[in-house]
Amino acid sequence: MAMASVHMIPAFVVLTLVSCSTGVALAQVCQRMTDVTCGREVVASVFDNRGNVTEKCCGVLLQLGEECHNTLVERRIAAGGYEDKQVVDIIRRSFGVWSTCSSIDSCKRITDPTCGREIVQKVFHGQGDVSGSCCGVLLQKGKRCHTVLVGERILAGGYETNATQVIRASVALWNNCSTVI
Ligand SMILES: *[C@@H]1O[C@H](CO)[C@@H](O)[C@H](O)[C@H]1NC(C)=O
Ligand SMILES: *[C@@H]1O[C@H](CO)[C@@H](O)[C@H](O)[C@H]1NC(C)=O
Ligand SMILES: *[C@@H]1O[C@H](CO)[C@@H](O)[C@H](O)[C@H]1NC(C)=O
Repeated sequence: MAMASVHMIPAFVVLTLVSCSTGVALAQVCQRMTDVTCGREVVASVFDNRGNVTEKCCGVLLQLGEECHNTLVERRIAAGGYEDKQVVDIIRRSFGVWSTCSSIDSCKRITDPTCGREIVQKVFHGQGDVSGSCCGVLLQKGKRCHTVLVGERILAGGYETNATQVIRASVALWNNCSTVI
């Protein structure tokens, strides 16, 4: 226990320093990464209290990351135009959207059984190939979901002797699909 906390403090300090020094870069990255349709959906939900964020856009938001989400909301508030009373509600809804999206595990839903099988064969057994259309399905799920799904399958057991190989295949497949499409 004591050892764990000793190790955690430097890690936290390092993370804080990194995020401070990359603050400007992060803001630029956040602007560029925003999917237009999903951006509108999140803004409508957080700023105008109009509707919920769809599962698809929750996925995009999760991939963006909590820090980016908060940064984008913060910048929009700072740009002005909202009454302080509204801002309080905006912040509340912003946190609400993030926590709702985090609790929806959209990664669980396998869209296509054929592609699911192809991907599992390739990544976990080094067999067969993943078709171009299944690459498309994989890319649409997003990198975060790909990583989460592979990780969950490894954790379910059976890959204690070749987990590294599986992760390498997982990364290779993602990179390959990204260049093919
Ligand atoms: C949005 O989500 C909340 C909580 O999950 C739910 O109560 C509400 O009915 C939803 N609204 C719409 C428009 O789907
Ligand atoms: C990893 O090990 C599991 C369990 O023995 C096996 O089913 C799978 O095919 C192996 N994968 C690779 C890429 O060797
Ligand atoms: C990359 O993807 C293409 C198309 O899906 C496939 O034909 C090829 O074998 C893959 N290469 C590797 C190294 O996985």
